[in-house]
Amino acid sequence: MTSTTEPSSTKTLVLLIDDQLIIAAALHKKLASFSDIELIATQDAETGFALALSKRPDVILQDLIMPGVDGMQQILRIRANPDLAVTPLVVLSSNADAVTKEQCFGAGANDYLVKFPDDLELVARIRYHARMGRAQRDRDNAMRSLAQSQSELVRRNAEVDAANRKLFAMNKLLGEESQEQRERIAEVAAFGTKLGRAQDLDEVMDQTLRLARAITNADAGSIWMIEKGVVRLKNRQNDTIEATLAKGERLPLADIVLPPDSTSIAGYVATTGRLLRIDDVQKLDASLPCQFRPEFEIQAGYNTQSMLIAPLRDGRDEVLVVLQLINARGRGKSGADRSVFTAADEAALEFFIGMASLAVERARLVRGMIMRIIAAAEMRDPMETGAHVQRVAECSVAMYERWATLHNIDDSERHRRRDELRIAAMLHDVGKIGIPDLILKKPGKLDDAEYKYMQTHSVRGGRLFAHSTTPYDDAAREVITHHHEKWDSTGYPGFFDAAMLEAMPTEFQANPDAKPLRGLEIPLFARIVAVADVYDALTSKRVYKDAWTAEQVTEFLRKESGRAFDPELVDIALELEGYFRSVRARFASEHA
Ligand code: C2E
Ligand code: SIN
Ligand code: SIN
Ligand code: FE
Ligand code: FE
Repeated sequence: MTSTTEPSSTKTLVLLIDDQLIIAAALHKKLASFSDIELIATQDAETGFALALSKRPDVILQDLIMPGVDGMQQILRIRANPDLAVTPLVVLSSNADAVTKEQCFGAGANDYLVKFPDDLELVARIRYHARMGRAQRDRDNAMRSLAQSQSELVRRNAEVDAANRKLFAMNKLLGEESQEQRERIAEVAAFGTKLGRAQDLDEVMDQTLRLARAITNADAGSIWMIEKGVVRLKNRQNDTIEATLAKGERLPLADIVLPPDSTSIAGYVATTGRLLRIDDVQKLDASLPCQFRPEFEIQAGYNTQSMLIAPLRDGRDEVLVVLQLINARGRGKSGADRSVFTAADEAALEFFIGMASLAVERARLVRGMIMRIIAAAEMRDPMETGAHVQRVAECSVAMYERWATLHNIDDSERHRRRDELRIAAMLHDVGKIGIPDLILKKPGKLDDAEYKYMQTHSVRGGRLFAHSTTPYDDAAREVITHHHEKWDSTGYPGFFDAAMLEAMPTEFQANPDAKPLRGLEIPLFARIVAVADVYDALTSKRVYKDAWTAEQVTEFLRKESGRAFDPELVDIALELEGYFRSVRARFASEHA
């Protein structure tokens, strides 16, 4: 007989607990030709329990009737041990009666085989349970590290508050400072508070750059993050260039990576941790090893002159982020006249950086938690999943911004809602955590029952946010629950409020009937994510489909306007297509 070996490099260890020697012998013989499976066996229930703890088998096969022990008690005992609680357990019994089976499943068995199953079926089940067990362990590990990040987060939040209070106190002590400087410090402290409220990393970086530019009156700026040994552009802003853009147009994203060395200005600050104040980048101080390299000139068609570049550090004093402020504007008058950054700009920026560092570090923790949840939910290539959710979030936020402009939403609401939307959009498919891998990773088309099961991911995910404590929970619940609704009411799952989600049982195979949602009944964020998600799904290659061309996708959006999608949002998406393409290029394969 030929055996197919699992791709995994480690062997699947099976522990057999059965009092009859002949069973162990038969099983050894059956499994001998499958090189990926290794069997250990014992006739004694007590030894079996000890072996389960010491050897940590991938699958336990257990007899039900053994002298002196109750098989059911043994199952309960294994399940009650925290180290064995999720180890796949298959009952191997000569008894085919349904009541016994039912009791075994009730006690926590994963499967029930009647002696003796066909060789191939036995092996297939062992492999299946081993795989599910590993997936479950990965999820548990992800959840554990999540819990750790959570307590870290609480600690960092307290630090942000403490830093905030210190800054206000400092402001009071600065009696001898000039009136102007005092006002600026008050302004910085207020900004710090604002920044402390944003949760998402991209939002925090966007706001950090925006506020730092406001404090120093800089026309443009970039923010870089040190990750995986390179210095990567995260955000850039440019008032002069943005003023020339057409309505609805956005500065495209760009993926610019600098080496962590002194060949660039940002790289130099990242590696040395020094703050630099430069009056004219074209005439750099000869003692500086770095040069302004026009080929790195990320503000295309723009003349860079003065710069203020500062590092943001984490709790261990390592540089996390480089903030690059470009072209000081003359204070007062027209504002367009060029100037240089002053020592007072530098001092105000240094105050601000203390707060911003904490906000960035905290946002990195939040982001790390979200990425872990998503990785656990999708169990796909984490690189692809990370890129997908970042693209969906980025495109959703761009659509919301445009929508907010068209609907005259004020800046503070816009910033708050953007932050909520970005996190909600990243989590839109988190309910896939409840979909069995066999469906989730099926290489071909799903059959009807599988697709029905798959459609439960939105309700399953929404359920996780039924208990709402913050507006972030509300936004996440709306997006996750309703991102597959359609404008013409033919989507799923229909009306579910928090109480209905809460009342859903843990196990269900298909969404229950619910009142269909139509048009503006569908929450705005869900309508936005629906467009962004389908746009991204269609332009991506999936295990079950090839990537569509840009023309095919545009055609599809037009066709589905007023059917699947909100027509207003289709118009916005079509306006933003160039930007969407830059988002795809920016998050093509980057590790999240
Ligand atoms: P997903 O891959 O992220 O796709 C999200 C949505 O994009 C889909 O929601 C659907 O509205 C749209 N979409 C994706 N591919 C196509 C396509 O080839 N043609 C059209 N017209 N629309 C497409 P939907 O249908 O509710 O599916 C939800 C999720 O279910 C999908 O998320 C995917 O994970 C899974 N899924 C759906 N169909 C299949 C399938 O045939 N095979 C497998 N393995 N998974 C599937
Ligand atoms: C640099 O930091 O030297 C390049 C970035 C830029 O062109 O502003
Ligand atoms: C939703 O389905 O989550 C929107 C209704 C609600 O506010 O709970
Ligand atoms: Fe989905
Ligand atoms: Fe998706």
